[in-house]
Amino acid sequence: MTEPDFLTETRAFYDAIAADYTDRFRDALDATPMDRAVLALFAELVRAERTDAKVAELGCGPGRVTGHLHRLGLDVRGLDLSPRMIELAREAHPEVPFTVGSLLDLPFRDGELTGVVAWYSIIHTPAERLPEVFAEFARVLAPGGHLVLAFQVGDVPLRLERPFDQPVSLDFRRLRPERVEELAREAGVPVTSRTVREPGPEEKVPQAYLLARKPV
Ligand SMILES: C[S@@+](CC[C@H](N)C(=O)[O-])C[C@H]1O[C@@H](n2cnc3c(N)ncnc32)[C@H](O)[C@@H]1O
Repeated sequence: MTEPDFLTETRAFYDAIAADYTDRFRDALDATPMDRAVLALFAELVRAERTDAKVAELGCGPGRVTGHLHRLGLDVRGLDLSPRMIELAREAHPEVPFTVGSLLDLPFRDGELTGVVAWYSIIHTPAERLPEVFAEFARVLAPGGHLVLAFQVGDVPLRLERPFDQPVSLDFRRLRPERVEELAREAGVPVTSRTVREPGPEEKVPQAYLLARKPV
């Protein structure tokens, strides 16, 4: 079957910028206490559900968030479309398993995971394909399992041209939290908590964090 263009473009974009992205964002969590707080809450919720909870960061890039969750004591693995990102994630976090794969076809069994993290990773999927991504999240989550999402808030996509001077460009889709909530609810993983924070010094738009849980 032929791959949709948006996946080919996303992979090429992140393969091209993987090394620069890794350098730029390696320590970014140190400067974002809200991100750390939401991830800590997620880790606590997941552990309360099952002490041996299995978690995956889907669209993990160079694994900075996956590595953080590992340090918080979770049994976590990472998945990303970009083979170059996965190489760099393995180098930076040799203790964490990483796999190349797609949000649209997750290599996990039904109900295998107690936690799913989608940290700025649903933002390159066209709106009409997002229900399939959420259906995959719902499929791989066990009853009682938790989903956490982070994304930029808005309606107008940002076209990033030649980032880090690399000859690539890609749309970064901003999303309305209400729409993302609807997608989660329709997939069977209703939202339990919503936070929107104002933009930081280097950000142009508010940032949203949603937690959702598959009913027991
Ligand atoms: C903005 S980066 C965020 C990376 C990481 N979560 C972080 O916070 O640093 C988005 C990542 O999602 C991945 N991604 C986007 N669409 C994907 C898809 N359909 N399947 C798998 N990975 C995807 C990209 O390859 C990229 O590494």
